[in-house]
Amino acid sequence: MEKKIYNSQSPLLKIDKLSTYFDTHSGLVKAVDGVDINLYPGDCLGVVGESGSGKSVTFLSVMGLIKKPGRIASGSIKFNGQELTRLSPQHYRKIRGKEIAMTLQDALTALNPSIKIINQISEVLKEHDQKIAARGRKAIKNRAVEMMKLVGIPDAQNRLNDYPHQFSGGMRQRIMIAIALACKPKLLIADEPTTALDVTIQAQVLNLIADIRKKLKMSVIIITHNLGVVSEFTDKIVVMYAGQVVESGFTRDVILNPRHPYSQGLLKSIPRLSELDKAIHPIPGQVSDLVNLPDQCRFFPRCSQRSEECRKDIPIRKLSNHREVRCIKVEE
Ligand SMILES: Nc1ncnc2c1ncn2[C@@H]1O[C@H](COP(=O)(O)OP(=O)(O)O)[C@@H](O)[C@H]1O
Ligand SMILES: [Mg+2]
Repeated sequence: MEKKIYNSQSPLLKIDKLSTYFDTHSGLVKAVDGVDINLYPGDCLGVVGESGSGKSVTFLSVMGLIKKPGRIASGSIKFNGQELTRLSPQHYRKIRGKEIAMTLQDALTALNPSIKIINQISEVLKEHDQKIAARGRKAIKNRAVEMMKLVGIPDAQNRLNDYPHQFSGGMRQRIMIAIALACKPKLLIADEPTTALDVTIQAQVLNLIADIRKKLKMSVIIITHNLGVVSEFTDKIVVMYAGQVVESGFTRDVILNPRHPYSQGLLKSIPRLSELDKAIHPIPGQVSDLVNLPDQCRFFPRCSQRSEECRKDIPIRKLSNHREVRCIKVEE
C-alpha cells in the first residue's frame, strides 16, 4: 500500500500568480491579476476586500467554475500538490464537492426551490461518495440527517422532505453548508456566508463553521467584505484590492497593525460585531475600473498617503516570514 507522508509544511492550496480575465464589450477586465495565496492544512483563512476586488473570481477559478467570457489567463493552482488549472472537466468533478467544496455568494438563491432538501443533499452524495451511494437510500438518508444535525437544524429527521422556502434565511445558509459538507471535504470555501443575515445569525453561522472545522479537521476559507467578521474567526488574512493581494499576515497582526493604507481604511470603515454603535468612516472613492488600468498602484486614486513615486507598478513584498504588503511607503 502507498504510504502517505503528512507534511504540515506543504500548502494544501497553493495559488501562484493567478490571473483570471473577462473579455467584455468594454475591454479586458483583469478581475484577478497575479494573485498568490497559500493555505496550509488546518488553516482558517479570511479573504477580505470591498465588493469588486476579485475575491469570488479567485475562488471560482480554484473550483474550475469560470465560464466564458472569463478564462484563467495564467498562473497555477495546486491542491494537495495537484495542478488544477489543467484538469479535465471529468477530473474536476471528482475534486469539486468531494475534496474542495464552496458555498456560493448567493447561497440563499443557490438552493433549488423546487427540490426537497433530502434530494439536494443526496445528489451530492451520489455524485461523490460511491461508498455511501452503494449502501443505498437508507445510508444516504442517514448521512443527510447527520449533516443537517451537524449544522444545527432542529428536528432534522422530520424536515428532510421540506423545500428551501420552508426554512429561514439563517437555516438555508446552514443547509448550504450541510450540502457543502456532505462528502466531508478537506477544504471548505464559504463565499460571503453571512452577508444576507442579521448580526446574531451571522455570529451563529460563523461559530458553526468554526465548530465543524474542528470536528472534521477541515481547512476553511471565509470570503467576506467585512473585516470585523473575519477578525474573530480566522488565523490568517489576505486583503484584496482591485484584483490583487495588497496585504497578508496573521489575523491579529493585520488587525492590530494594518500596514497597507487600504487595510487601514477597511479597518476604520467596517463595524465589528461588538462595535455596531460606533461611527464608521468609509474609504472615499470606489474600486478602480479593472479595464485599462494605468501603470500605478491600484489604490492610488483613493490613497491618502500617495505620492509621485507610487505611479508605477508596485510589487508585493515580504516584511517578515508571515507578512506581505504591496506598498512602497511601508518600512520594514
Ligand atoms: N462574468 C463576468 N463578466 C465580466 N466581468 C466580471 C464577471 N464576473 C466578475 N467580473 C468582474 O470581476 C471583478 C471582480 O469580481 P468578484 O470576484 O465577484 O469581486 P468580489 O467577490 O471581490 O466582490 C468585478 O469588477 C467584476 O466586474
Ligand atoms: Mg464576491
